[in-house]
Amino acid sequence: MSGQGTPEPLISRRAAPLKGEARVPGDKSISHRALILGAMAVGETRISGLLEGEDVLRTANAMRAFGAEVSDLGGGDWSVHGVGVGGFGEPEDVVDCGNAGTGVRLIMGAMATTPITATFTGDASLRSRPMGRVTEPLALFGTETRGRTGGRLPMSVIGAADPVPVRYRLPMASAQVKSAVLLAGLNAPGQTVVFEPEATRDHTERMLRGFGAEVVVEIEDGARVITLTGQPELAPQVIDVPRDPSSAAFPVAAALIVEGSDLLVPTIGMNPTRAGLFHTLRDMGADLTFENERDEGGEPVADLRARFSPDMKGIEVPPERAASMIDEYPILSVVAAFAEGETLMAGVKELRVKESDRIDAMAAGLRANGVTVEDGEDWWKVSGQGPGAVPGGARVEARLDHRIAMSFLCLGMAAKEAVTIDDAAPIATSFPVFLDLMSDLGGRFERANH
Ligand code: S3P
Repeated sequence: MSGQGTPEPLISRRAAPLKGEARVPGDKSISHRALILGAMAVGETRISGLLEGEDVLRTANAMRAFGAEVSDLGGGDWSVHGVGVGGFGEPEDVVDCGNAGTGVRLIMGAMATTPITATFTGDASLRSRPMGRVTEPLALFGTETRGRTGGRLPMSVIGAADPVPVRYRLPMASAQVKSAVLLAGLNAPGQTVVFEPEATRDHTERMLRGFGAEVVVEIEDGARVITLTGQPELAPQVIDVPRDPSSAAFPVAAALIVEGSDLLVPTIGMNPTRAGLFHTLRDMGADLTFENERDEGGEPVADLRARFSPDMKGIEVPPERAASMIDEYPILSVVAAFAEGETLMAGVKELRVKESDRIDAMAAGLRANGVTVEDGEDWWKVSGQGPGAVPGGARVEARLDHRIAMSFLCLGMAAKEAVTIDDAAPIATSFPVFLDLMSDLGGRFERANH
């Protein structure tokens, strides 16, 4: 498991042109939600295309600990026999969510209005992340929590015995916080209302509706107002998880910067609350097309075609796009390093509280590899070196962060000299087949010495 075993240093060398098809795994956000809502429905939910990464497997185990029957049927097919809204039992032991902020925050919400107590922990990265953003709104339902200083894990959550519905305005653009409140609202009587000034990924709202809950979304003064009617009986569903746009970002980016590449990345989730990176890359002049756009299981999908793009230009990424590409700034900064001119990424302070401080982690690693980066509290700017012109040659720290690890491996695929990361193990949290998939396409990775 990431962060708990021996580090796996890895070297990434200049890749051969990336050709063929990159079939990336299922969407992490949707996979967590499918397991959790499946566990809160009455009867059997069937899931295909589940992401079988460590983060999601932790959520599957957690749902078992709360009383659901969760079975791996093989080949990405899973079955969840749910216990119904308010039906969670008390876990016998500490619930370990590994590296998964989404897992722990959503599960805390889902159990917060059931009169049971659960204690949560995670790996070193997750134990350093703030949970106050979830425990504050949960307290409004009547939920009690007790964690370490600064609201860190390990943390015990004592579910409210007589929950009251809540009206809550999100103080930051966070789909995890929004989802925790909505999931807690499921077992509260009456209507729980979340005001969302900046739209974030809406998989929870979509899936809640799919399970039969009443969720109404209105726009008031530019904010999304989401009203959930509590205590529904959720009906089990058949869910086909689309492939993850946040994972697709890596082969797409690599194809844009590795000379001679021409890659198809099929069936990628194109939910507008998630697809910001692909529009940004096109704004930069990337040769990236969306083919065969269609709807699958309530989510829009498309096949992405990415070709080597030597004419990309740096841009100012619109700050209002941040929430729709929040996990993609690390890999965008790698593409920006191979564009001409400066790329400014502003309005992104949330990057400082992800699996690592992603502005600091990327800035440090890019600078070590010969790229000029300036940064402030909520912005950073990368000076592009032009196609093929990034020096590379350095070893960087991935800081227990899967997306930092994959970003620097992509940098090494197109830099002049090889790039080494200190630990590739965290990649298994979200994209367990990353190395095999990228090697098959043209990547050249090699174990390094400690
Ligand atoms: C996620 C929300 C985002 C994102 C994370 C997944 C989700 O986090 O960074 O990888 O599935 O709801 P925040 O809600 O903290 O922005």
